[in-house]
Amino acid sequence: MYKCALILAAGKGKRMKSDLPKVLHKVCGKEMVNHVIDVLRTVNIEDVGVIVGKGAEKVKEATEARNVVYSLQEEQLGTGHAVMCAKNFLKNKTGTVAVFTGDAPLITDETVKKFIEFHEEGGFKATILTSILENPTGYGRVIRNKKDEVKRIVEHKDCSDKELKVKEINAGMYCFDIISLLESLEKLDNNNAQGEYYITDVIGILEKEDQKIGAIPVPFEETLGVNSRVELSQVERLMRNRINIKHMENGVTITDPNNTYIDSEVEIGSNTIIYPGNVLEGSTIIEEGCILYPNSRISNSVIERDVVIQNSVVLDSKIGEGTTVGPFAYIRPDSTIGKNARIGDFVEIKKSTIGDDTKVSHLTYIGDAEVGSGCNFGCGTVVVNYDGKNKHKTIIGNNSFIGCNTNLVSPVKIEDNTYIAAGSTITKQVPKGTLAIARAKQVNIEGWVDKKGMRK
Ligand code: UD1
Ligand code: CA
Repeated sequence: MYKCALILAAGKGKRMKSDLPKVLHKVCGKEMVNHVIDVLRTVNIEDVGVIVGKGAEKVKEATEARNVVYSLQEEQLGTGHAVMCAKNFLKNKTGTVAVFTGDAPLITDETVKKFIEFHEEGGFKATILTSILENPTGYGRVIRNKKDEVKRIVEHKDCSDKELKVKEINAGMYCFDIISLLESLEKLDNNNAQGEYYITDVIGILEKEDQKIGAIPVPFEETLGVNSRVELSQVERLMRNRINIKHMENGVTITDPNNTYIDSEVEIGSNTIIYPGNVLEGSTIIEEGCILYPNSRISNSVIERDVVIQNSVVLDSKIGEGTTVGPFAYIRPDSTIGKNARIGDFVEIKKSTIGDDTKVSHLTYIGDAEVGSGCNFGCGTVVVNYDGKNKHKTIIGNNSFIGCNTNLVSPVKIEDNTYIAAGSTITKQVPKGTLAIARAKQVNIEGWVDKKGMRK
């Protein structure tokens, strides 16, 4: 049967106290609304409509790459009104529409799949997801008849004393037969405590017409919505836990999952070990057999197999197989580090390539440079890439030895197999096989200390 989905994302989310529309707040590095869209795509729902209102342009921009269709709800007159605004999306379609909200990102593909199958196999005109809550305050209550069939949903603010005692709540996710939904929307009114058009009233309308309503229970966790920053952190914690479990099941060791922060799109190979305090962001890929010692931030980077990183920051870069990084290294965007290289303590690399087997062990800055393989950088090398106005490039060939405390004033080229004496300030090209010394010659003045009467 044909299926499509709608995501309600027009509300501002006042309680977030934010300039950003609520559904764009991120959970494990991904906007809440994009989590929902991605789950729908995993269960092969291609046609996804997003109802936008507050911050519509921002929501469109953030979801653009996911190829969804937008409906605008200019004024937020309730969840039923929001769905009415998507009439154009629904018209001329027959089959099932699943309705979700953009602020409940924990729903899983398994649940969505089961939900839609249950709805279609049961031949229902509408199906709801429900949960039993010890404290159902604030939620719509599911009212059943003596035969235990769903009759209607009553919003908390519209409940009688007896209805308030009902613990079965409406999770706020629905499947509808599209034609039945469109017909029922015509019959919605806003005669209720909040003066809003409720999507939940569609259930009562269909039941009165003797249509069968389905309901299936769902773990409450999956339906948790975010209304405040505190709830955002709670949902983030649950999502984080889920992500960490997935990686551990795939053969990754995470020594302390409560203190390991992995974004939802990150990929990690098996036999990698991750110590606490690591933050792995964006589209990062960590291959097999790596060791991430505590406290690194790795963002949008590719870390090849058997790399060891500790206490470092790696941004938009690539680290080759078998290389070690840190502690306290800073690898800035657009850097590529080769295989079996070493980027040691207090080393900053910016927009540079470093060849295989090159060692940059300590206290060094390399910016806008192309460095070959098999080089060795002494402690305290500085690539002087900025003249106060412009940035320039430095090129260093293979198997070069850069002595300690060297300045390489860019633009400059150091050819293959060269040696640079410690303390040199290099401003001119160093040809192949050369030793370059660029510092004042040492002068020893004999007897100077006694002559000055300074011996202690
Ligand atoms: C809704 C349900 C309630 C259910 C609860 C589950 C209704 C009337 N009630 O209540 O039965 O228990 O969810 O969490 O549907 N939105 C729009 N446009 C609007 C109004 C809302 O896009 O005009 C969006 C909001 O941005 C939000 C979602 O719809 O993402 C839900 O709206 P909200 O006002 O939070 O509904 P609840 O009061 O939580
Ligand atoms: Ca809500």
